[in-house]
Amino acid sequence: SHFCVLTGLWRNDVGSRMQIDRVNEDGSFSGKYHTAVSLTENSIKPATLIGSQQLSEGGQPTFGFTVNWKSFSESTTVFTGQCYVGENGKEILQTMWLLREKVDPQNNWGATRVGTNIFTRTKGQNV
Ligand code: BTN
Repeated sequence: SHFCVLTGLWRNDVGSRMQIDRVNEDGSFSGKYHTAVSLTENSIKPATLIGSQQLSEGGQPTFGFTVNWKSFSESTTVFTGQCYVGENGKEILQTMWLLREKVDPQNNWGATRVGTNIFTRTKGQNV
């Protein structure tokens, strides 16, 4: 099946772990994100994520979510992406993110990073 629901445990290419608890009937979801990397010197703690995915027939849906890092950082990240199911039946999340760092107004020009992450499902422990 090409149908892809985001519920479950995921790991990305930098080793971050993500747990999506459930996807509601309207496509909204919540979960936890345990990043493997940080801009800060603070000790990393799991953060809450809130998102929304398309629930169209045919699967391979697009989605977006926000991570509020307030458990250890004043930054915010938004991710957007699409879930693909490969020939091997394995799901993969192709994403891009924007990470906003808290800065004074004169440093606004350089306060947003952009990047990509690829997530695959893991059977590991909860975030
Ligand atoms: C911070 O450093 O202030 C908060 C953590 C940011 C982690 C970023 S979000 C985009 C990228 N993908 C990850 O899995 N972690 C980093």
